Order: sequence, then structure tokens, then C-alpha cells
Amino acid sequence: MTTPAIPEFPDGFLWGVATSAYQIEGGVDADGRGPSTWDTFCARPGSVLGGDTAAVATDHYHRHDEDVALMTELGLGAYRFSISWPRVLPAGWGEVNQAGLDFYDRLVDELCAADIAPAVTLFHWDTPQVMEDAGGWLARDTANRFADYAALVGGRLGDRVKLWMPLNEPMVLTLFGYALGVHAPGWQLMFKALPVAHHQLLGHGLATQALRAAGASGIGIANHHTPVWPASAAPADQEAARAYDALVNELFAAPVLLGEYPTAELAAAMPGPVADDLLVISTPLDWYGVNYYQPSRVGAPRAGAGAAVVDGSTMPDGLPFDLPAIEGYPLTDFGWPVVPDGLREVLVTLRSRYGAALPPVYVTENGCAYGEQPDGEGRVGDARRIEFLAGHLHAARQAIDEGVDLRGYFVWSLLDNFEWAAGYSQRFGLVHVDYETLVRTPKDSFHWYRELIRTRR
Ligand code: NOJ
Repeated sequence: MTTPAIPEFPDGFLWGVATSAYQIEGGVDADGRGPSTWDTFCARPGSVLGGDTAAVATDHYHRHDEDVALMTELGLGAYRFSISWPRVLPAGWGEVNQAGLDFYDRLVDELCAADIAPAVTLFHWDTPQVMEDAGGWLARDTANRFADYAALVGGRLGDRVKLWMPLNEPMVLTLFGYALGVHAPGWQLMFKALPVAHHQLLGHGLATQALRAAGASGIGIANHHTPVWPASAAPADQEAARAYDALVNELFAAPVLLGEYPTAELAAAMPGPVADDLLVISTPLDWYGVNYYQPSRVGAPRAGAGAAVVDGSTMPDGLPFDLPAIEGYPLTDFGWPVVPDGLREVLVTLRSRYGAALPPVYVTENGCAYGEQPDGEGRVGDARRIEFLAGHLHAARQAIDEGVDLRGYFVWSLLDNFEWAAGYSQRFGLVHVDYETLVRTPKDSFHWYRELIRTRR
């Protein structure tokens, strides 16, 4: 296997890694945290592979010192992590759990002391269960409660956090959590889930305003993006691909960047005073974040097609799209095709779609699941991850040459962790975690990334 040499990145390019609270923290009952929808979902038999739960996960809640030491060793410019809403506000609103807020305050201090810029996601899918019981993201009021939570956290951490993301991948929560039911909270509402998109977007806009009012700056969003490739040149497949692109990519970008929904049908499906809400949703951002993993091949539904599998989850019947496998590329251990140029494609597409409305961009997530384990000497030889990252960084560098104002790149993830419905079966980390002993072992890719950060190439 050959690892392509990476051309030099601009001075000041931000090198990071990303994690999220529910996937690494554990400590679900520690110090007054309230339950989240994911605790409920994990407890429901058959929801998560192998019946895995995140009760312990990587135990980051109790091992954050060790994890910050790993980040220091990497020489990171930034660390992207999320705050657990139910750890800070166990009832979703009202009484603050000071111990929970203190945890993040200390973490931010530790990062600053190590000269690592904190990059904070406020919501990475772990809705407080009490909010879900009150209607969750189907209820408009959740957006208001979310803004109150943003004001609280912004007031406490706004003086030290460099980058803020109110939301992570609102598309995935809408589609997997509410439309298809393969993630928490497990609803199968199909197109009736669209209000969840609107309420998250409204929450994003209100939270952005609340963060600014609290003195925070550097506000963006981490959106999932995938190049959409039509299954064939047939008009029906082209039309299906266009509709999928609108739902999965544009639905979450156009309202934020342009203040509009991508189609009249989608706008009409949204609840509330949509035109007024779009003014809030498009509150100007300082930057825009892209999570990229793989392209999508999309066609019109075909009779007799086998069950579609997306991101490791089997889709329910009745999907209005055919999602055939992408062939001709190597696969990660998760079965995802490795298509580095897809990263260039999404970045360049965003630039041509949104032009001057697109602020500076960060790749807020990119990474791969490979299952290498430590050998007899404790070495984890994950050459495939190095090749994956090098290929994607090449593509990112090319996007810069093609005019994208790309300011930084975050590897998903620092640690092997709880991969949602796939439990612990998929390992995305630069650092291996033994889930019995919780021992951390940096993989070869960790050392490779450290050298890349040192030399910028
Ligand atoms: C994106 C999500 O934000 C993250 O939580 C997840 O682990 C990765 N994709 C990999 O599936």
C-alpha cells in the first residue's frame, strides 16, 4: 500500500480531532446527569448491535486528564467535543447541574493550558429524555429550550471556546432518529419527520443568537454532506438523486446559508411561521463545518431490490429511493466505500452552490472504521487508516487549490468509541481502547498524524 505524500497546508491551518459526549464519556449516572434518549434507546432490546450500551463507553468522564495528555502529545491545534445537555440540565431546562457544567469548565481549562483550542458542539444527538417526553424535536418549544441551554453554556465557556457548533448533523437525527427509527428516539415517521429538521434549524438559529448575546464568537454548524451520484442516466434515477440531494444536503445548508428551503415542497412541509423562522435560521455564521465519510448512489425505487443498508443500518421497507452499493472502491471494515475525492467534491459543490454566502469552511469530521488490535508488542498497525486520512487530506488540499477557503480538519475520532447503533463493533479512533481494561494504545495513525501536524505535510 502506498501512502500519497501530502502537499503543504497553509500556515495557521487548524489540525484537530473530534469526539462526542455520549460516545466517549460514560458516567451516565455520575454527579447528577439526567437520562438521555440514547440511554432509553440502548435499553430497548434489538436497538443496538450486541445489546451494547454507553454506560461506561471509554470512561472519558473519569479519564479526561489522560485523554488531554494524548491530545497534547499529538500537538493538536483544536479539540472538538460535545457537551451533554442532560449532564448540564438534567430536566432539559430549569435547574442547572453545577457538577456537570464544572466538568466542561475544567476540560476547557485543561485544553487551554495545553494550548489546544476548544471547539464545542452543543448537541450531538443526546436529547434529555424529559425533552423527548415533552415532544422532543417534533415540538417547537424544544428549539427555545435549546437556546436557553446555549445561553447558559455560552455564558460559562464563551470566554475560552474558539469554535462553537450548536448542532451536529441535524440530517442524521431527522432521518435516522425520527424518519427511519434506527437511532434514538426510534420513531419511524418517514416524511412526517420533516418538522424535526425545521425545529433543529430553528434551534440552531436561536442558539447562535443566544451564544452571541452571551459574548461567544466563532459560531458555525457541523453538517453531514455526501456527494450524490445518480444510479444511472435514466430520468427516474436522475430525479431520485436530485430529490435525495435536496433532502440530505441542501435541506440543512440552504436555510442556514441562504435563508430559504431548497424546494417549495420542503418549505410547505414545515410547521410554524416558516418565513419568519428562516430569518432566525440564517443568522450569519462565522464558519461552516462539513462532516464527510462517503458518497451516496441513488436511484428510483426498484421492485425486488434487497433491503438497503445505510451507514451500517438496515433501512425499513418503503423507502422512496434505491440506494445501491457503490462498487469499485475499497471498503472500510464498516463496509463504507473509501472515496477520498468525494471530500473535494462536497467542498467544491458547496462553494459553487452557495458562493459568497459560504463562510470559511472546516472539515469537522472525517475518518474510518478499521478493527486493528494491538499486537504482542502493543503496536496497532493501522496502515489502512493512514492511507485513508492521507488520501482525504490530499483531496482537501486540492479543494483549497480550487478556491475553497478551508481553514482546518478534524479527524473522527481521537478514541475508539460507541458507534451508535453499531455499538462497539466499529473502531474509528487514532487511539485504540480496550473496552475491558479501558487502556488506551495510540495506533500507528496517531504517530503519523502527530508528524503531519508537526510538519504540515
Ligand atoms: C458522524 C457522527 O457525527 C459521529 O457521531 C459518528 O460516530 C460518525 N459520523 C461515524 O459514523
